[in-house]
Amino acid sequence: MRPRITVVGSINLDLVARCERMPRAVSGASFSRIPGGKGANQALACSRLGAEVTLIGAIGRDSFAEEALVELREASVDLRLTEVDAPTGVALVVVDRSGETVIVVAPGANDTLAGVDLPEHDAVLCQLEIPDAAVVSAWERCTGTFCLNAAPARPVTVDPDVTVVNRYELESLSHRDGVVAVTQGAEDAVLLEDGEEIAKATPPHVEVVDGTGAGDAFTACFLVSLLEELEPVVALERACAAGALAASRFGAQSSLPTADEVDALLTP
Ligand code: RIB
Repeated sequence: MRPRITVVGSINLDLVARCERMPRAVSGASFSRIPGGKGANQALACSRLGAEVTLIGAIGRDSFAEEALVELREASVDLRLTEVDAPTGVALVVVDRSGETVIVVAPGANDTLAGVDLPEHDAVLCQLEIPDAAVVSAWERCTGTFCLNAAPARPVTVDPDVTVVNRYELESLSHRDGVVAVTQGAEDAVLLEDGEEIAKATPPHVEVVDGTGAGDAFTACFLVSLLEELEPVVALERACAAGALAASRFGAQSSLPTADEVDALLTP
């Protein structure tokens, strides 16, 4: 049975300048428009990894909206969208030659998301690019596993079963119980259960092209693997591989791997 995941989260169009180095002022960059937003990225990643996915989000009545949804439609993600009088979310992304990114998000429509109705699900997945009201509402109505990718970091009054953060976001967590996966870039990822380290994994080595979406691939793969009842350490290893694959490719949704690609990377 494919796990059924409802993602409540942000949808952005990423406007990406790819340049040699981080700019004070720089010319010669290349420009791309790529669907993004943590909610949309994680919904698409879950789908490519084999889950049946619903995405609840908000978009504007503008041309960016359809462009931001192209990959989700192509993957047949069930879209439950509210159209509002605000611009579709935009992320201005600068990527340098080493794959480092600087991202400025103009949330627009994402900021209007509030109470949500959920379809039947095994898990609900949220991130923090939407208002607290939407995250709290999703948590209150969740009847399965509630997973929070607490990014960008801010304290929020929910009590997730599974939390995914990077080492900096960990500092802002208002809760530390349940299962917490902490990513530490190319170094490793650790799994904490009620504060105790229970597993550790090292991502496979890849040439980093663009870090955008790596955390989204990690989060989606960790959740899908847990729902498939894999051992937590195996879920962590697969999540590390998914994050590494995303970092080895350009763009957000353009970089998200399938389950076969993840497992191939882990096969000696
Ligand atoms: O996690 C990556 C995403 O963060 C990008 O796609 C961008 O939209 C920002 O929201």
